[in-house]
Amino acid sequence: MTNVTDQDRVLIFDTTLRDGEQSPGATMTHDEKLEIAELLDEMGVDIIEAGFPIASEGDFKAVSEIAERSKNSRICGLARANFADIERCWDAVKHAEKNRIHTFIGTSPLHRAIPNLTQDEMAQKIHDTVSHARNLCENVQWSPMDATRTEWDYLCRVIEIAIKAGATTINIPDTVGYTAPMESADLIKRLIETVPGADEVVFATHCHNDLGMATANSLAAVAGGARQIECTINGLGERAGNTALEEVVMALRTRNDIMPWNTGIDTTKIMHISRRVATVSGFNVQFNKAIVGKNAFAHESGIHQDGMLKNRENFEIMRPEDIGLSGTSLPLGKHSGRAALRDKLNTLGFDLGDNQLKDIFVRFKDLADRKKEVFDDDLIALMTLDEADDYLQLVSMKVTCGTGGQAESTVELEMVGKDVIATEHGDGPVDATFKAIQAIYPNEAHLQLYQVHAVTEGTDAQATVSVRLEEDGMIATGQSADTDTVVASAKAYIHALNRLIMRREKSGPGTDAREISYKDLT
Ligand code: KIV
Ligand code: ZN
Repeated sequence: MTNVTDQDRVLIFDTTLRDGEQSPGATMTHDEKLEIAELLDEMGVDIIEAGFPIASEGDFKAVSEIAERSKNSRICGLARANFADIERCWDAVKHAEKNRIHTFIGTSPLHRAIPNLTQDEMAQKIHDTVSHARNLCENVQWSPMDATRTEWDYLCRVIEIAIKAGATTINIPDTVGYTAPMESADLIKRLIETVPGADEVVFATHCHNDLGMATANSLAAVAGGARQIECTINGLGERAGNTALEEVVMALRTRNDIMPWNTGIDTTKIMHISRRVATVSGFNVQFNKAIVGKNAFAHESGIHQDGMLKNRENFEIMRPEDIGLSGTSLPLGKHSGRAALRDKLNTLGFDLGDNQLKDIFVRFKDLADRKKEVFDDDLIALMTLDEADDYLQLVSMKVTCGTGGQAESTVELEMVGKDVIATEHGDGPVDATFKAIQAIYPNEAHLQLYQVHAVTEGTDAQATVSVRLEEDGMIATGQSADTDTVVASAKAYIHALNRLIMRREKSGPGTDAREISYKDLT
C-alpha cells in the first residue's frame, strides 16, 4: 500500500477549504483561506484539499498560494473528469513540495445519467482522465462520486481501471450521507479483498452527515481497511456537513483501546482552528457539538459538578487541555496591563507582534470599561472579529423602542469621509437599524442569515452577531461582537456590506461568485 507504510496510521485529509467552503454561504476571502490552510498545516493535517482550481479565478489563486506556502502538508486540488480541469488543477498545485490531483466522476446510475454516458463510455473516460492526471502528477486521488449507491460490479470495475491508470488513492464517497457503519466497513473491506491492485493504493473514506452518521461511518471504514479519512473542521459542508475532523481524531485518540489507529494531528490546536473556521465561514458551532461546542466541557448540574470536583474522570473522557482549551476562565479587567494581556493571548494561541498588541490593547480597554470581567471567550471574539474598516463605518447610533415592538433607529455612518445620518422605523430595534443603514447605503442585498450568540455569560456578555448577505449570486458574511446586541448587529451588517462592496470592486461582474456550482459537478 503506497503512502501509508505504517498500518496503524490513518491519514487526515482536510477538505474544509473545498467541500466545506462549497456549502452555501460559507465562502471565505482569499486571506482567510490562507490563514486556515496555515493552521491546518501547523496542526499536522496530512493532505489539505485547498480548493477547486477551475471553479473561479479566486479558487485558482488561493490553491496556488496555499501550495507555495505549505510547509508540511500535501496540497491537493479538485478536478472533474476532463483534461481542462485536471490541467488547471495541476497548474495550481504544482507549486507545492508535495502535491496531489483529486479527480472524480459520479458513477451511480443517477449520476451517470447526468452526462448521459453508458457504463463503457464512462469507464473509458475514467481511464483517460486518471492517466492524464498521473502523467502530470505522481500523486493522484480518484473518487467515484456517490460510490455508496453505485452497483457493486461496476464500482469494482471502475476502481480497477483507475488503479491501472495510475491512481495512488481511491476515495469512496458517501456523497449523500446514505450509508451506515456496518455497510461502510463491509464495503471497504470487500473492495480491498476483491479489486485487483487494491493493496497497492490507499483507500479513503469521504462521508456526509445527512443521517448524522458521518463520524461513525468514517471510523467504520477505517475498521474495514481505509487509511485516509476525509473531513472538515466543525463538520462544515453542504447540507448536514462532512465528517468532523475533531470528532474522528479525538475518537481515535480517546478509544485507541478498541480503535488502534493513530493520526498525526496535534489535538491541542483543535479549539483555535475551530473558532477561526466558525468566524470566517459565519457558521457558528452549536453549543452541544461534540468536542468543540461551548458546552462540550461544561458541567452544570449539581450532581455532575460534585462528581467532577471529586474526580474529573467521573464525567470527562477527554481533558479540555487536549483540544487546546485552557480549562480555566481568566478574568482580566480594566486594570490589567499589556503584559498580562499578551500572556493570556499567547495561551489562547495568538502570537502577537508589538503593533498588533497595541491595537488589540486599545480594544481590550474599551471592552473592559464596559464589562466587569473580560473572559477568554471575550478575548477570542476581540481577536477574531476584524473591524469593518472599509467603505462604510459606524459613527453612532441611537435606538428607541416603543411598546408593541415598534422601534426607531437613527444611524450615523461615515461613507468615504462623509458623515450621513438616517432615521427609520421598524419591527424591533434590529429591523429599524438595518432599514436606517439601507437608507444611507441603498442596496439590493438580500439578508440570508441573522444569528446572535452570547459569547460569555451575564447581561454584560458580548454578543456575537453573524449576518449573511446575498446579491446577484455573490455572498458576503459579516460578524461583530459588542456588549450591546443592536450595536453588534449594526456592525455585522455593515461588515457584510463592506465585504460585498469590496468583492464587487475587486472582481468585476460575477467573478467572485462561483462560476461553477456544485450542481454542475459531474
Ligand atoms: O461528496 C462527494 O462525493 C465529493 C466528491 C467531489 C469527492 O465531495
Ligand atoms: Zn463531499
